[in-house]
Amino acid sequence: MERDFPEDFLWGAATAAHQVEGFNVASDWWAAEEAGLLPHRSGAACRHLERFEEDFELARRYGHNAHRLSLEWARLEPRPGVFDAEAFAHYARVLAALRARGLEPIVTLQHFTLPRWLAERGGWLASDAIERFARYVAEVARALGSGIRWWLTVNEPTVLAKHGYVTGDWPPFRRGRWDLAMRVIARMIAAHESAYRVLHEILARPLVSFAHSLPWIEPCDPGRWRDRAAAALRRWFLCDSCFWLVRERGRPLLDFVAVNYYTRSIVRWRARGRALLFGVDCLDPHHGDRRRFDELGQEVWPEGLYRTLCRCARLGLPILVTENGIATTDDGLRIEHLSEHLRALARARAEGVDVRGYLYWTLFDNYEWARGFTAHFGLAALDPENGERRPRPAMELFARVARSGRLPRTEEAGEAA
Ligand code: BGC
Repeated sequence: MERDFPEDFLWGAATAAHQVEGFNVASDWWAAEEAGLLPHRSGAACRHLERFEEDFELARRYGHNAHRLSLEWARLEPRPGVFDAEAFAHYARVLAALRARGLEPIVTLQHFTLPRWLAERGGWLASDAIERFARYVAEVARALGSGIRWWLTVNEPTVLAKHGYVTGDWPPFRRGRWDLAMRVIARMIAAHESAYRVLHEILARPLVSFAHSLPWIEPCDPGRWRDRAAAALRRWFLCDSCFWLVRERGRPLLDFVAVNYYTRSIVRWRARGRALLFGVDCLDPHHGDRRRFDELGQEVWPEGLYRTLCRCARLGLPILVTENGIATTDDGLRIEHLSEHLRALARARAEGVDVRGYLYWTLFDNYEWARGFTAHFGLAALDPENGERRPRPAMELFARVARSGRLPRTEEAGEAA
């Protein structure tokens, strides 16, 4: 039978250190949690720091052949210029555990958290932030890098900038500072560029990108120029600015495009308040008779993945879906979400879009930043009492697709629910 996905397609889950490891004590997030500035504490998180072998075993048993993880800069460099040998040894064991199970590592070098010492100097706005990051990346590349092909330098600059400097619900808790948000995005892209060069200098043919959050953005009423303008501005700020900044002599300084896709936003112009330029989200039902939302209020809209992949294809690079998932405890909805997004992905591939892999956010429920443990993104549920990982039905479906390379039939998707 013909396959929908090639044999070498990457199938896996994505995670981030602070969300799963536990006791990330030298990071800015830990400091903010301890100071009571965040509504939830990460604490022991999912104890992945100790349980990583068991977790990778779970992934392997369910058909994964890849895994996205982040290395915690705050652990590796707990004080400026002081690199922690034990932390390096730990991640060497983690990477060996992945390889032993045939899981291709996709390594993020910075996923939202920063070392506390850097945050105290201004985080990404500190004058030496980029230089410091490049030095950390060089240490990692030399100590751990051989054999790692896929690299993500930073995660979602626009999301970090928005939460940290506009809505102000994440460290460093600045509100309404669009100017600083724009500077942070520019600095994170500059950090990406220097990390890109460092990785290419030290390693043989690495594939380097940054993970980009790409919602599908459209105007509420395409007939109203104000809605169109608000949507275009929001799209420029959230999606295109990073691709524009990362260009060098007309070409993107990327080896592939890393797409994090969750949702669409339908934008309506509003002439007042903070929404002035970017409009407000329109949640009316008239954009399709059955709009579905997850527990964070994000719309489930698989067509947006297809469109986003087609749009990214214009950059002329291979694409990796580095995050896609849903926060829900409704198993039927998770199955629907997964099978429809995989169909969207297969459709883009069939039309010639070069997508190399799909990484589900996430392996098991974890610490969802300011939402703590209240959002359920996992292929497996996490028992809050004993931390047991309990595979949800969607995990079975994921395993079948990954093993066979074939899309689920409609009745199969229904059965798994
Ligand atoms: C982030 C993850 C986060 C996920 C779900 C992405 O923006 O990279 O850290 O948990 O979305 O909200």
